Amino acid sequence: MRIAAVADLHCGIADRERIRERLQSVPQVADVLLLGGDLTNYGKPEELEVLIGQLVKLRIPIISILGNHDYESGRQQDLLHMLQGVDVRTLDAEPYEFDGIGFAGVKGFCGGFGRGELTAFGEPEVKSFVHASLEESLRLELALGRLRQDRRVVLMHYAPIPETAVGEAPEIFPFLGSSRLSDVCDRFGATVIFHGHAHHGSSEGKTRGGIPVYNVALPLLMAQKPPRSFRVIEL
Ligand SMILES: [Fe+2]
Ligand SMILES: [Fe+2]
Repeated sequence: MRIAAVADLHCGIADRERIRERLQSVPQVADVLLLGGDLTNYGKPEELEVLIGQLVKLRIPIISILGNHDYESGRQQDLLHMLQGVDVRTLDAEPYEFDGIGFAGVKGFCGGFGRGELTAFGEPEVKSFVHASLEESLRLELALGRLRQDRRVVLMHYAPIPETAVGEAPEIFPFLGSSRLSDVCDRFGATVIFHGHAHHGSSEGKTRGGIPVYNVALPLLMAQKPPRSFRVIEL
């Protein structure tokens, strides 16, 4: 299976042509398209409408999660329903099996990496922040635990390892992702992990357990030579 993946399309209401250009060649080179969140700029249904107008033209299976930008207007449930309405698989609640390959995904959250990971200690505000991070890794755990396929693809918005965030300012690393997400993948097993969010990060890395991780944030792909609109991995 040829899997095309891209995150951080950040579709605005005037972006119809830009999105069309970025995605039009997907059906020629891939069997399925993964969208790793930040589908929109401000999480507005009218922005997603523009993106959906282009997605339906591709006529291949599409699997998606949301990113932090898609939560900005508090309309995330509406956005999920809109995607489901055009048969885009949203992994937020459920894993998905397609052609013998399992797909699991969550938005993920921040919290930091390795020794720099924030722990639930002290003020309630810190605890609720860490709780949000734990909650996302638990959701991923539940999804992966339900998959029976040997080959399994994990899609998330936030970075699961620091390596693919390298290139961003070190000061913001704790807000780019969380090691808890990669720990879950190492424990439950995954063949490959895709994520976005770190627009100026690095394109490849590995979890501590050796699972390949690809940062497919569009601004990062476009900054490479030659620029790419999405990444294709064959499983
Ligand atoms: Fe983004
Ligand atoms: Fe993001």
